[in-house]
Amino acid sequence: MSRPAATVAPEPHATPPTDNAPGSGSVGQTFLVGDRIYLRPIRADDASRSVAWRESPFPASAKVAEKFLEEEVPKEAEKGVLRLVACRRSDDVPVGSAIVDFREDWPTAYGRLRAAPWPPETASAVKAEMLGLLVPWLVDERSAISVAFDLDGGEPAVVAAAEATGLRPAFRIREAIWRSGARHDWVAYQKLHPAWLGRLGDPGPGILVGDDPPTAPRSPAPRHRPESRFPLPPNTVVASDRLALRPLGSGDADTAARATTQETEDSFGEGRIPESPLLFAKWWGNHGEQATPDEVRFAIVLRATEETIGDNGLFNIDWIGKTAETGSFIFRPQHRGAGLGTEAKHLLLEYAFERLGLFAVWSWVTTANTRSAAALRKQGYRDAGRIDWVSVGRGEFQSAFLFDLQAEEWRAARR
Ligand SMILES: CC(C)(COP(=O)(O)OP(=O)(O)OC[C@H]1O[C@@H](n2cnc3c(N)ncnc32)[C@H](O)[C@@H]1OP(=O)(O)O)[C@@H](O)C(=O)NCCC(=O)NCCS
Repeated sequence: MSRPAATVAPEPHATPPTDNAPGSGSVGQTFLVGDRIYLRPIRADDASRSVAWRESPFPASAKVAEKFLEEEVPKEAEKGVLRLVACRRSDDVPVGSAIVDFREDWPTAYGRLRAAPWPPETASAVKAEMLGLLVPWLVDERSAISVAFDLDGGEPAVVAAAEATGLRPAFRIREAIWRSGARHDWVAYQKLHPAWLGRLGDPGPGILVGDDPPTAPRSPAPRHRPESRFPLPPNTVVASDRLALRPLGSGDADTAARATTQETEDSFGEGRIPESPLLFAKWWGNHGEQATPDEVRFAIVLRATEETIGDNGLFNIDWIGKTAETGSFIFRPQHRGAGLGTEAKHLLLEYAFERLGLFAVWSWVTTANTRSAAALRKQGYRDAGRIDWVSVGRGEFQSAFLFDLQAEEWRAARR
């Protein structure tokens, strides 16, 4: 397997340096050591070098970084999230980081790479070398059933390194990354373990199901909404004649939890789960506390009865790329398949595009959930590809379709 060319630092020392001398950090390390960098576990003394590993464009004091390392890293590790710091072999300076999320019971180990923001010209080489170290280790040694990485499509050296390790394109969310004054595609690459491919057959690269944006979606957002006969529920944020979106609160927890025990459908791929109202109250009770949240959730309210019939929201909001994931849940089967989810979605998109100014949204749906995929397509979302073996259900690994929709496309389709 060819290792990607790297231009990070001079050749490593020919003779091992003494303990603690710059460049001694990888001495004795038996794996995850490359020509120019090595990957080591994150440590308390990384607090003073947080730009190399912290997943935020905003600066943090060493005290704040220290608190994160002490409190969050052990919690993450218990959940199966591995954080590694990439250091230059020549002087042990941290130049990037990798996060691999083993997602507890999920078959796919999902990775993200980060390079220190300075100097920018070495970023691609750092990421490329990380991939060359991580993928063979995850597949050949850790026997991950599947490995996936989110990459920046505007970094050809990194994409080439991904392909050299046997990763292949799974999906592409158009122009979702804002970097160096321009938009770049978010591309996900995946490798399925050869032993499991032999047993289960090869589903082929997920990108093959990608498509062009629909030119005339069947259920676009209306340009004008008729006057409603029903009163506006208190705290409404956005409304159509039939529905209103308002903030969710712990008061909605009992309704949502009761619906999970009365569910009649098991079509979502993973089967039914009786959820506790305590869980919903935790999710929704403190919602809105953060001034700049990374998620926004709404109760979907039927204006005629003021009944909460579901929830929808924006998740993983990226305020720099101006993108978010969308998600919806209509609580009861009798309210599904009647256009209510689509009507509520267009209210959510109006909020996302017209009020928040987002550039695009994306969504993912298990391939078993054909109704949810049909709803997204008729709303104007584009098929962006597929990622395989992301969860388990019905005695097999479940795959998922990805979708994207840009604000301009949503606006142009309005009728
Ligand atoms: C997904 C969901 C939010 C969609 O909202 P909705 O109100 O049901 O959606 P709509 O009625 O607007 O559209 C559904 C479309 O799927 C079609 N459909 C229904 N069952 C289907 C099936 N089994 N396979 C394919 N299409 C199906 C409907 O006919 C409808 O299309 P049409 O308007 O052309 O007739 C809602 O069904 C829901 O909450 N489902 C359960 C939870 C869930 O799956 N959430 C999404 C997780 S990704």
